[in-house]
Order: sequence, then structure tokens, then C-alpha cells
Amino acid sequence: MGFIDRIKEKARQNVKTIVLPESNDRRTLEAVEQILKEGTAKLILLGDPEKVTADAKELGVSLEGVSIVNPANDKNFESYVQLLYECRKAKGMTEEKARDTLSNDILTYGVVMVKAGAADGMVAGACHSTADTLRPALQIIKTTPGVKSVSGFFIMDVPNCELGDDGIFLFADCAVNQNPDPVQLAEIATNSARTFEALTGGVPAVAMLSHSSKGSSKHPDVDKVVEATRLAREAHPDINLDGELQLDAAIIPVVAESKAKGSPVAGHANVLIFPDLDAANIGYKMVQRLAKAEAYGPMLQGIAKPVNDLSRGCYTEDIVGVVAFTAVQAQMCENK
Ligand code: ACO
Repeated sequence: MGFIDRIKEKARQNVKTIVLPESNDRRTLEAVEQILKEGTAKLILLGDPEKVTADAKELGVSLEGVSIVNPANDKNFESYVQLLYECRKAKGMTEEKARDTLSNDILTYGVVMVKAGAADGMVAGACHSTADTLRPALQIIKTTPGVKSVSGFFIMDVPNCELGDDGIFLFADCAVNQNPDPVQLAEIATNSARTFEALTGGVPAVAMLSHSSKGSSKHPDVDKVVEATRLAREAHPDINLDGELQLDAAIIPVVAESKAKGSPVAGHANVLIFPDLDAANIGYKMVQRLAKAEAYGPMLQGIAKPVNDLSRGCYTEDIVGVVAFTAVQAQMCENK
């Protein structure tokens, strides 16, 4: 069974409800049909039922089994206004502003539904930027207790690859924190280890990536990764984590032998922590395009309930996959 099929199987074992606010998007409607057929989630679409049904009909898509919530006449609208107001009043939110936001911003509506427990998670971003998709989630759902920074990861499934966990890797932070300081980088690493374990069932081996291996280069950028490695180890000595390591030393056993002899991680890392957003974002896209890897994400970790972003260039199949991951993350939240 392929990796994504294992995630779908997990999602089916305890079916969660995911809200998809972008009912105006063709790929989202096509994904709804497939997700319901595969049984990986119950779905809520946001929008005017008449329009959504007509759009689906035109596309030849069946929406049988989906729940369509129209914010314009949702019986829960006023309770969501109160919830949004309470969450954000310290930041200047008024009841009037909350009402206006929920009437006009479909993404915030979806996030508030998740906060209220009307849905277990949300997937959006097929027609909104990453920043617009993530901002309301960060503002309203907030971090998991004990976590300071939400970060974004990809599960990479590299075909015909024996490296990592038989070609499965977690890359982070590819989506949120522009230039994490050592404290943030350490947290990204330890959260990523837990995420990898929970999603893949594999044992994480975390490499703190750099352009230097074990002191081969001297630079403040290297110092940052060395300090993050120290902090992560101090906070979570149970996690198998090492740095600073170049990518080849992290994943190729023979290179690890010469560049990082004795490292408990070098040569077989499966969780790759990049020093900043540029490196991580470029890194995942390079593996996706040149190695023809499946890239599932960006997904958020460290957030209290799962909200995940889609690329605006995504395909229907990507939405189907991210919904399955989101449903599994919702199960993980329940078990915490
Ligand atoms: N963890 C937890 N909370 C956070 C985080 C974080 N990492 N970042 C921001 N927040 C919170 C803030 O504390 C703030 O909360 P508050 O309003 O209650 O005080 C709220 O989110 C808004 O934060 P701002 O910094 O004011 O908002 P901003 O919009 O400037 O930044 C954002 C947030 C959108 C996530 C920003 O970090 C960002 O744009 N990141 C890069 C996104 C991106 O472009 N990624 C690359 C593309 S993705 C791809 O290619 C796959």
C-alpha cells in the first residue's frame, strides 16, 4: 500500500469533519466527490447551496452526502460573531467588526467553525494566498498548549528511493517562519519529530541542516543551527537529533562516514530541518520537481486544531490528499 493510501486508511478509521470554504473552486468541488467516495472525511462546504449545487451540476460532480452551510442564513452565525469577538477583543475586535468579517470573509468563517467545534479541521488556499489562509488560523485557533510557534511542513514521498524512511521524509519549516531564531528552529525540529512519528509511524531521525557539517565552516548562520541543535537536545533528549549537517551528510551513509562520523543521525535522517524559509521552500520544490516526489503540504504543526493550506496551483488530487492528512491530524488532536 502506498504512503497516501495508508494515510487515507487511517482517516477512515475515525472519520472527522473537514470544512472546505472555497466552494467557488472547481478543483474543490471535484475533490468533494472523490473524498466522499473514498470515505476519508465528512465535509462541509461554505456558500449558497443553490449556486454550489448548480456549479456542481455543470461540472458533472455529485455532492451527495456533503453538508452546505450558507453563512448568510446559518443559525449559528450570531454565536460565531460572539466567539470571534471574544477571541479578538483584546486586539481591537468589536461585535460589529466581527459580524462584518464573518459576513465577508469565508476563510475566517471556516476557522471560527473549527474553533467552535462545528468542524474538526479546515483546508483552503486553492484560491487564496498562504498568508491570507494562515493568518486567521494563527489569530483565532492559536498554538497547541506548550507550543510557541506554528510551523509548516511537507511530507515528501520520493519514488524509488531507499533513503530516509524508504523515500518518506518530513521537511520543515517550508511555509511559515521566514528566518527562525535558534529557539524557534529548535521547536520546529522537535515538533517535526513528533509529527513524523504520528503521521508515518516511523522513528524520526532529525537532521539540522546547514551548509556546514560538524564545524567544517564558520559563520553566524552555522552558529544558529548549532545553538538550535543544543536547545532541541536539551529540551527533548529522547529525540534522535543531530546537527549541524549538510544534506549529503544527513542522508547518504557513505558521506556521513567521512563528514560526520559517529553521528547518531547522519546517513539516515528522515526529518530534515532547514535553517530558513528560503532554503526549505526551495528544497521541497526541487525534490518535488527534479525527483518527481509527491509533496503533501504545506501542513501546519503546533496549531491547536488542524488548518492546512493548498497551493493555488494545486490539483484535485492534492486537495483529496491534504484533506486525508488533515483528518488524521484531527484524530491526533483528539488523542492529546
Ligand atoms: N506561530 C504562531 N502564531 C503566529 C506565528 C507563528 N509562527 N506567526 C504569526 N503568528 C500570530 C501572531 O502572533 C499574530 O497573533 P495576534 O494577532 O493574536 O497577535 C497573528 O499570527 C498575526 O501575525 P502577524 O505577524 O501580524 O501577521 P502576518 O500576516 O504578518 O504573518 C504569516 C503571519 C502570514 C503566517 C506570515 O508569517 C507569513 O506570511 N509567512 C510566510 C508565508 C509564505 O509566504 N510562505 C511561503 C509560501 S507557502 C508555499 O510555497 C508552500
